[in-house]
Amino acid sequence: MCGIFGCVLKDGNAAPLIHSSLKRLEYRGYDSVGIATIFNDKIHLKKDMGKIDEVDKILNLDDMPGSIGIGHTRWATHGAPLKVNSHPHADCTGEIMVVHNGIIENFMDLKTELQNLDHTFVSKTDTEVAAHLIEQTLKNNPKLDLVGAVQESLKRIEGSYALAVISTREPDKIVCARNESPLVLGVNGKGVFCASDIPAFLPITNKAVMINNGELVILSPKGYEIRKISDSSPVIREPITIDWTAEMAVKQGYPHFMIKEIHEQPETLRNTLRMQDHYLDLLSTFLDRANEVFLVACGTSYHACLAASYMFSKLAFLPTYPVYGSEFVEQHGKSVSIDSTILAVSQSGETADTICSVTCAQQRAATVLSLTNTIGSTLTRISRVYIGTQAGPEIGVAATKTFTSQLSVLAQLALRLAKKRGKISQDEIDHLEEQLVRLPDTVDTIVKTQEQKIKIIAEKYKDAKVFFFLGRGISTATAFEGRLKLMEIAYIPAIAFPAGESKHGPISLIEDGFPVVFVCPKDETHKTVIGNVMEMKARGAHIIAVIEEGDEEIKSLADDYVEIPKGVPSVLSPIPFVVPLQLLAYYTALAKGYNPDMPRNLAKSVTVK
Ligand code: F6R
Repeated sequence: MCGIFGCVLKDGNAAPLIHSSLKRLEYRGYDSVGIATIFNDKIHLKKDMGKIDEVDKILNLDDMPGSIGIGHTRWATHGAPLKVNSHPHADCTGEIMVVHNGIIENFMDLKTELQNLDHTFVSKTDTEVAAHLIEQTLKNNPKLDLVGAVQESLKRIEGSYALAVISTREPDKIVCARNESPLVLGVNGKGVFCASDIPAFLPITNKAVMINNGELVILSPKGYEIRKISDSSPVIREPITIDWTAEMAVKQGYPHFMIKEIHEQPETLRNTLRMQDHYLDLLSTFLDRANEVFLVACGTSYHACLAASYMFSKLAFLPTYPVYGSEFVEQHGKSVSIDSTILAVSQSGETADTICSVTCAQQRAATVLSLTNTIGSTLTRISRVYIGTQAGPEIGVAATKTFTSQLSVLAQLALRLAKKRGKISQDEIDHLEEQLVRLPDTVDTIVKTQEQKIKIIAEKYKDAKVFFFLGRGISTATAFEGRLKLMEIAYIPAIAFPAGESKHGPISLIEDGFPVVFVCPKDETHKTVIGNVMEMKARGAHIIAVIEEGDEEIKSLADDYVEIPKGVPSVLSPIPFVVPLQLLAYYTALAKGYNPDMPRNLAKSVTVK
């Protein structure tokens, strides 16, 4: 997730406006910032790594001439957060400048093709290919104008993008376009603006035009013109009036970041499906060679590791050991060795216990691999190979979208390893890959159809003194995560166990009305879970079940239930099944009058780059 902004003013300097608008988009990324303007047919460019204020102190971003320009604030995905990888990116001539939010999936193929045509690349980003591709398209078709060249180039780009392009060849316009990354226009009497999100321009105008996938826009002093990328057909769309406050706008109209981020999961899951093959391959090769694999993490990330241990075992027949970051040194510090591989998982890449485990393992010559949401974090700097979760910044303290993204990447890694090891049939791999691709829509359906129901359940149980969360197999990890969410933001003590363990002690707590949340996908554990549900029910527990749609057996036993669309394979089930539990925690916190974005005594780790 990055923030882009562009403006064409009728009069005056664009740079101060771009600078202040990027500040309002900084919640989308803060690894680097850059602005390019056009004045007297020349490009003026300022960019560097760091937060906007830090870069501004050194470069004075407002001091750039020209009434037209584009800007970018970056959350690194391809290439470290360095100046050279900062946007805007240029073609070989420096005449074309591009800012981009999204992931160009086929950038390696395009880059190779363009390098063979003598294009020189300076960055490690996917975005830079767009600038060179436009340049090459113009070279191949000298009669094309900038709009035509951008349009033809976009037809060759696969993946997600919201991008904005300027060129000295046609210094009076910005060409921008969208596919699966947000893009919105702002208009007022002084000019036209394009941005990743409404807060960017809200203080200057509340008149906005939403841009849809497959559309291209030409911004000029005359206004805006929307066309379809596929066939240039014109799109007529009038501005709408936005009545959000600035604070609401940053949260896109949601009352809290946590619920915004829960709702973002279809989009963030889609992004995880755009992993760079090369890194998945590299990581799975290291895992394949390992004699012992530790999955090390804290909190929610640990729960992703717990789920992953089932994925690696079931799909790739690879035994792995999930270990809490805070326990690793005590538990394995003496035995970890050159034969060990550590896969550390961390949203922030900075959690002290995780870093400490990794450092200990490194000192004993173990191989360190990592999965993180923060490229450039300490973890990426000390790992042999790392891969990003692509979830964008998570502002809510409670991890939600980053958890499901971690699970999706770990599932892809397990599948890649399964392929390498030939442990399961190609048919099964194909089926799981197809199901993985369907998950963003499944999560979307859950949020759309179950949210109101969960709100009512939260209201009903908000005064419970304690909760149980139970699941079997991989759903144990889901249950653990549901329990952590409820405890940390609704402050209700909660206990999570593998359901089979509940009769070895915890069941003695059960009395009339005790709420027990069961995670029940329709997998090989289903029959035994029904047994556990009946045991609890017989002792007066109130059963809240997360079930597969149409699971009549559990429906008939449950006091309340939430339904997940049919057909999710067991190994992928934590991704959709955790969503109702995130919502349950969120609405319980609200029902009890707490602010879910600010749980007491907790803060998110942040990266100091
Ligand atoms: C819970 C939560 C924490 C983090 C934990 C690890 O909602 O956010 O439990 O998961 O502190 O953080 P990272 O993943 O940044 O290492």
